[in-house]
Amino acid sequence: MNNSKRKTVIAGNWKMNMTPNEGVAFVNELKSLVKDKNNCEIVICVPDVDIPTVSEALKGSNIKLGAQNAHWELKGAFTGETSVNMLKEYNVGYVIIGHSERRQFFGEINNSVNMRLKTIIESGLKAIVCVGELITERELGITTEIVSLQTKVALHDITAEQMKNVIIAYEPVWAIGTGKTATADEADRVNGIIRNVISDLYGENTAESTTIQYGGSMNAANAVELLSKVNVDGGLIGGASLKALDFTAIVDAAQ
Ligand code: PGA
Repeated sequence: MNNSKRKTVIAGNWKMNMTPNEGVAFVNELKSLVKDKNNCEIVICVPDVDIPTVSEALKGSNIKLGAQNAHWELKGAFTGETSVNMLKEYNVGYVIIGHSERRQFFGEINNSVNMRLKTIIESGLKAIVCVGELITERELGITTEIVSLQTKVALHDITAEQMKNVIIAYEPVWAIGTGKTATADEADRVNGIIRNVISDLYGENTAESTTIQYGGSMNAANAVELLSKVNVDGGLIGGASLKALDFTAIVDAAQ
């Protein structure tokens, strides 16, 4: 991470875990554990149905609230979807989009990630855009091509000014929930490739000030090494974000 140029963001992704009440109990524990930790932005991205209770529980804390997806339209006949305006009423500040689980199980494609991103940014929220290669793509030696393509399409028609509200999370799909982490050098290398894509699109200044996280089995044991890398500006954390002490240890690693 390079704190002089960009913000370090440690974001938890609860996925489909924790009921509204469990979420509140967890947040009450986490709030006191991280209350004096101000060197990074701390975010938890929770299931939509948890948002009202967790939002209330987070009031007055240094933890920001995020959602795990949002639709590109503001309202209408989209059964099962959630709009940015619905999220904003509960002080949601961040939205994850393009997560590999959405791509794998729910038909998310690069173009729909771009549509969501435009709406999220235009509504004043911040987005965490996930990119990352499958194991088969890594074995074919096309990781650079895959993450570059995903990044470019996601950012289509996004301006340099709007990039201030965009975070990219590099999440190699083979590392998510598997206990297999990319080595710190490999995470740094691919994050650097993404930064070069941003530089080509927007110039050096925007590239240097964009937060690029790593995600994929980040935990209390490997966070210090991953976060010590110059191109790794934070983490998107699944499994380890469900344990308050582990998540706090990752926040500590970013301090
Ligand atoms: P994991 O998940 O930390 O459990 O690998 C990361 C993610 O999917 O964002």
